[in-house]
Amino acid sequence: MSEPSAPREREASETLVALRAASYAYEEGPTVLSGLDFDVTEGRALALLGRNGSGKTTLMRLLSGGLRPDQGGLTLGGTPVTYDRKGLTRLRTTVQLVVQDPDDQLFAASVEQDVSFGPLNLGLSDAEVRARVAEALAALDISALADRPTHLLSYGQRKRTAIAGAVAMRPRVLILDEPTAGLDPDGQERLLDTLQGLRDAGTTVVMATHDVDLALRWADDAALLTPSGVRTGPVAQMLAHRDLLAQAGLRLPWGIAVSELLRTKGLLDVAGEGPRTPEELAALTAPAMPGASAG
Ligand SMILES: Nc1ncnc2c1ncn2[C@@H]1O[C@H](COP(=O)(O)OP(=O)(O)OP(=O)(O)O)[C@@H](O)[C@H]1O
Ligand SMILES: [Mg+2]
Repeated sequence: MSEPSAPREREASETLVALRAASYAYEEGPTVLSGLDFDVTEGRALALLGRNGSGKTTLMRLLSGGLRPDQGGLTLGGTPVTYDRKGLTRLRTTVQLVVQDPDDQLFAASVEQDVSFGPLNLGLSDAEVRARVAEALAALDISALADRPTHLLSYGQRKRTAIAGAVAMRPRVLILDEPTAGLDPDGQERLLDTLQGLRDAGTTVVMATHDVDLALRWADDAALLTPSGVRTGPVAQMLAHRDLLAQAGLRLPWGIAVSELLRTKGLLDVAGEGPRTPEELAALTAPAMPGASAG
Protein backbone atom coordinates (compact mmCIF):
# COMPACT_ATOMS: atom_id res chain seq x y z
CA MET A 1 0.00 0.00 0.00
CA SER A 2 1.22 3.45 -0.69
CA GLU A 3 0.14 4.97 2.61
CA PRO A 4 3.08 5.75 4.87
CA SER A 5 3.31 3.24 7.67
CA ALA A 6 5.53 5.18 10.06
CA PRO A 7 2.78 6.18 12.54
CA ARG A 8 1.66 2.55 12.66
CA GLU A 9 5.16 1.37 13.45
CA ARG A 10 5.39 3.80 16.29
CA GLU A 11 2.32 2.21 17.86
CA ALA A 12 3.62 -1.34 17.46
CA SER A 13 2.30 -3.91 19.94
CA GLU A 14 -0.64 -1.73 20.87
CA THR A 15 -4.05 -3.39 21.25
CA LEU A 16 -6.14 -2.22 18.31
CA VAL A 17 -9.43 -3.97 18.94
CA ALA A 18 -10.44 -5.99 21.94
CA LEU A 19 -13.39 -7.85 23.37
CA ARG A 20 -13.81 -7.42 27.11
CA ALA A 21 -15.78 -9.95 29.16
CA ALA A 22 -17.81 -10.58 26.04
CA SER A 23 -20.56 -13.17 25.81
CA TYR A 24 -22.62 -14.07 22.82
CA ALA A 25 -25.49 -16.47 22.16
CA TYR A 26 -27.51 -16.70 18.96
CA GLU A 27 -31.21 -16.13 19.45
CA GLU A 28 -32.17 -19.70 18.77
CA GLY A 29 -28.78 -21.22 19.30
CA PRO A 30 -26.14 -22.08 21.86
CA THR A 31 -24.02 -19.72 23.94
CA VAL A 32 -20.95 -19.54 21.70
CA LEU A 33 -18.64 -17.33 23.72
CA SER A 34 -18.79 -16.52 27.38
CA GLY A 35 -16.87 -13.90 29.38
CA LEU A 36 -14.23 -13.66 26.66
CA ASP A 37 -11.27 -11.27 26.75
CA PHE A 38 -9.64 -11.15 23.36
CA ASP A 39 -7.05 -8.74 21.96
CA VAL A 40 -5.97 -8.01 18.43
CA THR A 41 -2.48 -6.58 18.75
CA GLU A 42 -1.06 -4.22 16.16
CA GLY A 43 1.40 -5.87 13.82
CA ARG A 44 0.89 -9.44 15.12
CA ALA A 45 -0.46 -11.88 12.54
CA LEU A 46 -3.03 -13.98 14.37
CA ALA A 47 -4.41 -17.39 13.39
CA LEU A 48 -7.73 -18.46 14.84
CA LEU A 49 -8.15 -22.21 15.12
CA GLY A 50 -10.80 -24.56 16.45
CA ARG A 51 -13.32 -27.22 15.54
CA ASN A 52 -16.30 -26.67 13.31
CA GLY A 53 -18.84 -24.81 15.37
CA SER A 54 -16.30 -23.68 18.00
CA GLY A 55 -17.07 -20.01 17.35
CA LYS A 56 -14.36 -18.68 15.01
CA THR A 57 -16.80 -16.99 12.66
CA THR A 58 -18.83 -15.67 15.58
CA LEU A 59 -15.71 -14.21 17.19
CA MET A 60 -14.72 -12.53 13.92
CA ARG A 61 -18.18 -11.04 13.50
CA LEU A 62 -18.03 -9.69 17.04
CA LEU A 63 -14.61 -8.12 16.35
CA SER A 64 -15.84 -6.47 13.16
CA GLY A 65 -19.11 -5.21 14.61
CA GLY A 66 -21.48 -7.44 12.62
CA LEU A 67 -22.64 -8.97 15.89
CA ARG A 68 -22.93 -7.19 19.19
CA PRO A 69 -21.96 -8.93 22.44
CA ASP A 70 -24.89 -9.73 24.75
CA GLN A 71 -22.65 -8.85 27.66
CA GLY A 72 -19.31 -7.10 27.83
CA GLY A 73 -18.09 -4.99 24.97
CA LEU A 74 -15.79 -4.21 22.12
CA THR A 75 -13.12 -1.54 22.31
CA LEU A 76 -11.31 0.23 19.50
CA GLY A 77 -8.04 1.89 20.47
CA GLY A 78 -9.14 1.51 24.09
CA THR A 79 -12.45 3.31 23.57
CA PRO A 80 -15.76 1.38 23.78
CA VAL A 81 -17.42 0.90 20.40
CA THR A 82 -20.93 2.28 20.10
CA TYR A 83 -23.26 0.47 17.75
CA ASP A 84 -24.80 3.56 16.20
CA ARG A 85 -23.99 4.73 12.69
CA LYS A 86 -21.04 6.86 13.78
CA GLY A 87 -19.53 4.18 16.00
CA LEU A 88 -19.87 1.48 13.37
CA THR A 89 -18.37 3.69 10.66
CA ARG A 90 -15.41 4.35 12.92
CA LEU A 91 -15.05 0.61 13.49
CA ARG A 92 -15.37 -0.29 9.81
CA THR A 93 -12.74 2.15 8.69
CA THR A 94 -10.36 0.34 11.05
CA VAL A 95 -11.54 -3.28 10.95
CA GLN A 96 -12.66 -5.13 7.85
CA LEU A 97 -14.02 -8.67 7.75
CA VAL A 98 -13.90 -10.88 4.68
CA VAL A 99 -16.43 -13.70 5.06
CA GLN A 100 -15.61 -17.24 4.04
CA ASP A 101 -17.90 -17.52 1.04
CA PRO A 102 -17.17 -14.75 -1.49
CA ASP A 103 -20.69 -15.12 -2.85
CA ASP A 104 -21.99 -13.77 0.45
CA GLN A 105 -19.88 -10.66 -0.06
CA LEU A 106 -19.86 -9.84 -3.76
CA PHE A 107 -22.94 -8.25 -5.19
CA ALA A 108 -21.98 -5.60 -7.79
CA ALA A 109 -21.92 -6.30 -11.52
CA SER A 110 -18.17 -5.92 -12.06
CA VAL A 111 -15.02 -6.40 -10.03
CA GLU A 112 -14.23 -2.69 -10.06
CA GLN A 113 -17.74 -1.72 -8.98
CA ASP A 114 -17.66 -4.21 -6.16
CA VAL A 115 -14.31 -3.06 -4.84
CA SER A 116 -15.41 0.60 -5.15
CA PHE A 117 -18.47 0.14 -3.00
CA GLY A 118 -16.87 0.58 0.43
CA PRO A 119 -14.73 3.61 -0.41
CA LEU A 120 -17.69 5.28 -2.21
CA ASN A 121 -19.76 4.79 0.94
CA LEU A 122 -17.12 6.64 2.93
CA GLY A 123 -17.92 9.68 0.83
CA LEU A 124 -14.43 9.92 -0.66
CA SER A 125 -13.77 11.85 -3.86
CA ASP A 126 -13.89 9.99 -7.18
CA ALA A 127 -10.13 10.36 -7.56
CA GLU A 128 -9.51 8.95 -4.10
CA VAL A 129 -11.90 6.05 -4.74
CA ARG A 130 -10.17 5.27 -8.03
CA ALA A 131 -6.76 5.34 -6.36
CA ARG A 132 -7.87 3.00 -3.59
CA VAL A 133 -9.51 0.57 -6.00
CA ALA A 134 -6.43 0.49 -8.23
CA GLU A 135 -4.24 -0.09 -5.18
CA ALA A 136 -6.46 -2.90 -3.85
CA LEU A 137 -6.72 -4.64 -7.23
CA ALA A 138 -2.94 -4.45 -7.63
CA ALA A 139 -2.37 -5.79 -4.10
CA LEU A 140 -4.58 -8.80 -4.89
CA ASP A 141 -3.06 -9.23 -8.35
CA ILE A 142 -6.41 -8.84 -10.11
CA SER A 143 -5.97 -5.50 -11.92
CA ALA A 144 -6.59 -7.29 -15.21
CA LEU A 145 -10.01 -8.39 -13.96
CA ALA A 146 -11.31 -4.89 -13.17
CA ASP A 147 -14.04 -4.91 -15.82
CA ARG A 148 -14.94 -8.58 -15.49
CA PRO A 149 -18.51 -9.39 -14.41
CA THR A 150 -18.29 -10.86 -10.91
CA HIS A 151 -20.55 -13.80 -11.84
CA LEU A 152 -18.02 -14.92 -14.46
CA LEU A 153 -15.09 -15.14 -12.05
CA SER A 154 -13.57 -18.40 -10.84
CA TYR A 155 -13.86 -19.20 -7.14
CA GLY A 156 -10.30 -18.09 -6.39
CA GLN A 157 -10.83 -14.87 -8.34
CA ARG A 158 -14.03 -14.21 -6.38
CA LYS A 159 -12.10 -14.76 -3.14
CA ARG A 160 -9.48 -12.24 -4.26
CA THR A 161 -12.13 -9.75 -5.28
CA ALA A 162 -13.82 -10.04 -1.88
CA ILE A 163 -10.49 -9.43 -0.13
CA ALA A 164 -9.75 -6.48 -2.45
CA GLY A 165 -13.06 -4.92 -1.39
CA ALA A 166 -11.88 -5.01 2.22
CA VAL A 167 -8.35 -3.84 1.37
CA ALA A 168 -9.77 -0.83 -0.49
CA MET A 169 -11.04 0.40 2.88
CA ARG A 170 -7.39 0.54 4.00
CA PRO A 171 -8.20 -1.12 7.30
CA ARG A 172 -5.64 -1.36 10.05
CA VAL A 173 -7.05 -4.80 10.86
CA LEU A 174 -8.02 -7.22 8.13
CA ILE A 175 -9.97 -10.24 9.36
CA LEU A 176 -10.23 -13.19 6.98
CA ASP A 177 -12.53 -16.16 7.56
CA GLU A 178 -10.80 -19.21 6.07
CA PRO A 179 -9.30 -17.29 3.13
CA THR A 180 -7.32 -20.24 1.75
CA ALA A 181 -10.21 -22.74 1.82
CA GLY A 182 -11.04 -23.82 -1.70
CA LEU A 183 -7.89 -22.36 -3.25
CA ASP A 184 -5.47 -24.57 -5.15
CA PRO A 185 -1.89 -24.87 -3.73
CA ASP A 186 -0.54 -22.16 -6.01
CA GLY A 187 -3.51 -19.94 -5.20
CA GLN A 188 -2.81 -20.45 -1.49
CA GLU A 189 0.85 -19.50 -1.94
CA ARG A 190 -0.07 -16.39 -3.91
CA LEU A 191 -2.59 -15.36 -1.30
CA LEU A 192 -0.02 -15.84 1.47
CA ASP A 193 2.40 -13.66 -0.50
CA THR A 194 -0.31 -11.03 -0.87
CA LEU A 195 -1.05 -11.13 2.85
CA GLN A 196 2.65 -10.80 3.56
CA GLY A 197 2.69 -7.67 1.39
CA LEU A 198 -0.23 -6.23 3.35
CA ARG A 199 1.50 -7.07 6.63
CA ASP A 200 4.70 -5.41 5.44
CA ALA A 201 2.64 -2.31 4.64
CA GLY A 202 1.38 -2.21 8.22
CA THR A 203 -1.94 -4.07 8.12
CA THR A 204 -2.64 -6.38 11.05
CA VAL A 205 -4.09 -9.62 9.70
CA VAL A 206 -6.28 -12.11 11.55
CA MET A 207 -7.13 -15.38 9.83
CA ALA A 208 -9.39 -18.31 10.74
CA THR A 209 -8.07 -21.56 9.37
CA HIS A 210 -8.23 -25.31 9.94
CA ASP A 211 -4.73 -25.76 8.53
CA VAL A 212 -2.23 -26.06 11.41
CA ASP A 213 0.77 -26.17 9.07
CA LEU A 214 -0.31 -22.98 7.38
CA ALA A 215 -0.95 -21.33 10.76
CA LEU A 216 2.52 -22.31 11.97
CA ARG A 217 4.32 -20.81 8.99
CA TRP A 218 2.13 -17.77 8.57
CA ALA A 219 1.13 -16.51 12.02
CA ASP A 220 2.95 -14.85 14.89
CA ASP A 221 0.27 -15.83 17.39
CA ALA A 222 -2.42 -18.50 17.51
CA ALA A 223 -5.75 -18.38 19.31
CA LEU A 224 -7.22 -21.81 19.97
CA LEU A 225 -10.93 -22.05 20.63
CA THR A 226 -11.53 -24.85 23.12
CA PRO A 227 -14.59 -25.82 25.16
CA SER A 228 -12.95 -24.18 28.18
CA GLY A 229 -12.27 -20.89 26.45
CA VAL A 230 -9.88 -19.22 24.03
CA ARG A 231 -6.14 -19.64 24.57
CA THR A 232 -3.78 -17.27 22.78
CA GLY A 233 0.00 -17.19 22.55
CA PRO A 234 3.01 -17.46 20.22
CA VAL A 235 2.07 -19.85 17.43
CA ALA A 236 4.96 -22.34 17.81
CA GLN A 237 4.24 -22.64 21.52
CA MET A 238 0.47 -23.01 21.17
CA LEU A 239 0.65 -25.56 18.37
CA ALA A 240 3.13 -27.75 20.29
CA HIS A 241 0.74 -28.09 23.22
CA ARG A 242 -0.80 -31.58 22.89
CA ASP A 243 -3.62 -31.08 25.38
CA LEU A 244 -4.71 -27.82 23.84
CA LEU A 245 -4.54 -29.27 20.35
CA ALA A 246 -6.70 -32.19 21.42
CA GLN A 247 -9.23 -29.86 23.04
CA ALA A 248 -9.37 -27.74 19.90
CA GLY A 249 -9.69 -30.79 17.63
CA LEU A 250 -6.38 -30.11 15.91
CA ARG A 251 -3.45 -32.31 15.02
CA LEU A 252 0.23 -31.58 15.60
CA PRO A 253 1.75 -29.53 12.76
CA TRP A 254 4.49 -31.27 10.76
CA GLY A 255 6.87 -28.42 11.52
CA ILE A 256 6.53 -28.95 15.26
CA ALA A 257 7.03 -32.72 14.95
CA VAL A 258 10.13 -32.14 12.81
CA SER A 259 11.53 -29.55 15.25
CA GLU A 260 11.12 -31.93 18.15
CA LEU A 261 12.91 -34.69 16.25
CA LEU A 262 15.72 -32.32 15.23
CA ARG A 263 16.19 -31.33 18.87
CA THR A 264 16.40 -34.94 20.07
CA LYS A 265 18.97 -35.62 17.32
CA GLY A 266 20.97 -32.55 18.35
CA LEU A 267 20.39 -30.82 15.02
CA LEU A 268 18.50 -27.93 16.57
CA ASP A 269 19.17 -25.96 19.77
CA VAL A 270 16.65 -26.53 22.52
CA ALA A 271 15.64 -22.88 22.26
CA GLY A 272 16.20 -22.70 18.49
CA GLU A 273 13.46 -21.71 16.12
CA GLY A 274 12.27 -24.80 14.25
CA PRO A 275 11.66 -25.01 10.52
CA ARG A 276 8.19 -24.03 9.31
CA THR A 277 8.51 -25.05 5.67
CA PRO A 278 10.37 -27.74 3.68
CA GLU A 279 12.73 -25.00 2.47
CA GLU A 280 13.57 -23.95 6.03
CA LEU A 281 14.14 -27.60 6.94
CA ALA A 282 16.53 -28.03 4.01
CA ALA A 283 18.43 -24.87 4.97
CA LEU A 284 18.64 -25.96 8.60
CA THR A 285 19.93 -29.47 7.93
CA ALA A 286 22.18 -28.66 4.95
CA PRO A 287 25.41 -28.09 6.98
CA ALA A 288 24.88 -31.39 8.80
CA MET A 289 24.52 -33.24 5.53
CA PRO A 290 27.29 -32.08 3.19
CA GLY A 291 26.31 -32.39 -0.41
CA ALA A 292 22.62 -32.78 0.44
CA SER A 293 21.75 -29.58 -1.35
CA ALA A 294 23.45 -30.60 -4.57
CA GLY A 295 21.04 -30.96 -7.47
N1 LIG B 1 -27.09 -17.58 12.77
C1 LIG B 1 -27.00 -18.54 13.70
N2 LIG B 1 -28.06 -18.89 14.46
C2 LIG B 1 -27.97 -19.84 15.42
N3 LIG B 1 -26.82 -20.48 15.70
C3 LIG B 1 -25.73 -20.19 14.98
C4 LIG B 1 -25.76 -19.19 13.94
N4 LIG B 1 -24.51 -19.12 13.41
C5 LIG B 1 -23.76 -19.99 14.07
N5 LIG B 1 -24.48 -20.64 15.03
C6 LIG B 1 -23.97 -21.64 15.97
O1 LIG B 1 -22.93 -21.03 16.74
C7 LIG B 1 -21.84 -21.93 16.96
C8 LIG B 1 -20.54 -21.31 16.45
O2 LIG B 1 -20.61 -21.19 15.06
P1 LIG B 1 -19.46 -20.51 14.20
O3 LIG B 1 -19.98 -20.37 12.82
O4 LIG B 1 -18.98 -19.32 14.89
O5 LIG B 1 -18.33 -21.64 14.27
P2 LIG B 1 -16.97 -21.79 13.45
O6 LIG B 1 -15.89 -22.05 14.45
O7 LIG B 1 -16.79 -20.64 12.54
O8 LIG B 1 -17.21 -23.14 12.62
P3 LIG B 1 -16.66 -23.59 11.17
O9 LIG B 1 -15.27 -24.15 11.39
O10 LIG B 1 -17.61 -24.70 10.79
O11 LIG B 1 -16.72 -22.42 10.24
C9 LIG B 1 -22.26 -23.23 16.27
O12 LIG B 1 -22.79 -24.09 17.23
C10 LIG B 1 -23.31 -22.80 15.28
O13 LIG B 1 -24.23 -23.83 15.04
MG1 LIG C 1 -16.69 -20.45 10.48
